Amino acid sequence: MDAFKYKENKLHCEDVNLSKIASSFGTPAYVYSKKALTENALMYVNSFTNPDNMACFSVKSLSNLSVLKLLKEVGCGFDVVSGGEMHRALSIGADPKSIIFSGVGKSSDEIKQGILNKILSFNVESVSELYKIEAIAKKLQMNASVSIRFNPDIDSGGHDYITTGRKGDKFGISSIEDILNLSTYISKSPNLSMVGLACHIGSQIINLESYKETAQRTFELADQIFDIGIELEFLDLGGGLGVSYDSNIHPNPEDLISCLELEFKGRKERLILEPGRSISANAGVLLTKVEYIKDEFLIVDAAMNDLLRPSLYQAKHEIWNVEKGDGNKVIRNIVGPICESSDFLGKNIKISAEEDDILAVRTAGAYGFVMSSNYNTRPRACEILVEGNQTKLIRKRESLENILEMELNLND
Ligand code: LLP
Repeated sequence: MDAFKYKENKLHCEDVNLSKIASSFGTPAYVYSKKALTENALMYVNSFTNPDNMACFSVKSLSNLSVLKLLKEVGCGFDVVSGGEMHRALSIGADPKSIIFSGVGKSSDEIKQGILNKILSFNVESVSELYKIEAIAKKLQMNASVSIRFNPDIDSGGHDYITTGRKGDKFGISSIEDILNLSTYISKSPNLSMVGLACHIGSQIINLESYKETAQRTFELADQIFDIGIELEFLDLGGGLGVSYDSNIHPNPEDLISCLELEFKGRKERLILEPGRSISANAGVLLTKVEYIKDEFLIVDAAMNDLLRPSLYQAKHEIWNVEKGDGNKVIRNIVGPICESSDFLGKNIKISAEEDDILAVRTAGAYGFVMSSNYNTRPRACEILVEGNQTKLIRKRESLENILEMELNLND
């Protein structure tokens, strides 16, 4: 669904005029639609025909507590990649048995917190990590549930920086021999239980064939693990489903699930997915004001510190003026105030805009606010959630005091 539409030439989020949000809350501001978040999540939750299957929302894509709470209420579990993200999920009351902890560099303290909280699974990404989890579980006199994240050596396409399932990528374990040895080791350890097998082949995947191939490779490996005498509870095929950043139509969560459930026919394990972008991306926009017009440039008040994707991955986001005027559209480069030539939100954008106009950078809900920084000592934007005709501030705009208060010992 698209929750951002023009009504009488004014761009709205649900029933709220975005110009009004900009004048009440200032810019830059992230605005999310509750309806879009809910409908996207429900498209996963309601498409499963096996009620034990589960969508664990990838917290890294949009981690605001109000959003997590909303997604928990509609039935999502959570995929976390740090102690911080686990803390967020637990603090909104997520059931620990719905939390999966992935990531190649889990620290001892993060592992300890995961074991103490009895999370559903650690997705183990190296042999050394498994030994570390076992040692910590032993010290705590507890049992840790683990899955092995394997590397299926599948190139899912897309930008090199977000492809994760090829041999040579840093994620998961590639050697089948190592995986089978580790599985045997786990089966003999009193402090470990092997509950699943996991993989994640990349992000912004628009081709369901890669998922089918991944499922088949996962089944082959799960069967080899079964032959060792281990019955896995679930197979976690990761996240990665792409979204449309323009008007092209791509497979949606329903398509993905019906394709995977067909592949899973006859298998005992339940299916877990870790969707991020396909739930959060089109539910959010970044509002920014045009400060100056110079030559072909629109210089706006949001920058690469607010939305890094265009600078880092040459990602293309549509950028719309929130007031649809009669002015001629011209080709512009939309840039921020940061002192880097790579600081742009969009290049060659056809748009009509004047100074002080408000623009909406679309499809910015995923990997937007979460990747923002204080570069150039710029306070981070506020976040607003819209429901119908209501707006709710869900993260305050940072102040300069917030930034400076972290710095100590001025008198030394
Ligand atoms: N599970 C694991 C283990 C992951 O590493 C990721 C994303 C996901 C799930 C969720 O993937 P999604 O459904 O959102 O595609 N910053 C980049 C994307 C990085 C993705 C990192 N891993 C971007 O802005 O495009």
